[in-house]
Amino acid sequence: MGADYYLRELMGRFFFILGAVVWLQLPAAVVALPSQPAKAWTLADFGGVLSVGLEGHRNFGNGRSLFKGQCASCHQMGALGGGPARDLSKRSLTYAPEELLGHILSMENHPQKKNALLENFSQGDVLDLLAFILSGADAQSPFFFHP
Ligand code: HEC
Repeated sequence: MGADYYLRELMGRFFFILGAVVWLQLPAAVVALPSQPAKAWTLADFGGVLSVGLEGHRNFGNGRSLFKGQCASCHQMGALGGGPARDLSKRSLTYAPEELLGHILSMENHPQKKNALLENFSQGDVLDLLAFILSGADAQSPFFFHP
């Protein structure tokens, strides 16, 4: 047995250990990925969901805080926010849900946001935000009814 043999033996162990390390680290890397990747929502994603999804069970506090975080710098809604864009309280009760979502996703209204306003929202988040606006920021609205 020459040095050649030991070298091959050593290389074999090296790659075995390397393989084991990669294999062990893989699940950690997968878990570390964001559980909810950014999503470019479209109206089509909500076909059929808008009506049933808004019939009670929405979360007022979540809708309110999402509005505060993403919309209140430009829009007013009840006592919240304000800025250069339209006061949404004025029309909030008369929007149809699809119409409201269409306005939010519209590049015409929000070009500087490149459709990114809702990208970190889950579907439930979008519905909570819509319910917050459609209710006229009223926590007592049937949108938030929990039977
Ligand atoms: C950087 C400023 C800005 C932000 C942030 C913003 N908007 Fe707008 N939005 C506008 C502008 C500008 C318009 C078009 C003109 C106007 O309404 O004053 C508009 C239009 C709208 C309209 C249409 C109003 C109508 O009746 O025609 C709705 C609804 C709306 N935005 C909802 C939202 C919601 C909900 C959010 C948060 C998810 C949001 N916007 C975030 C600036 C903004």
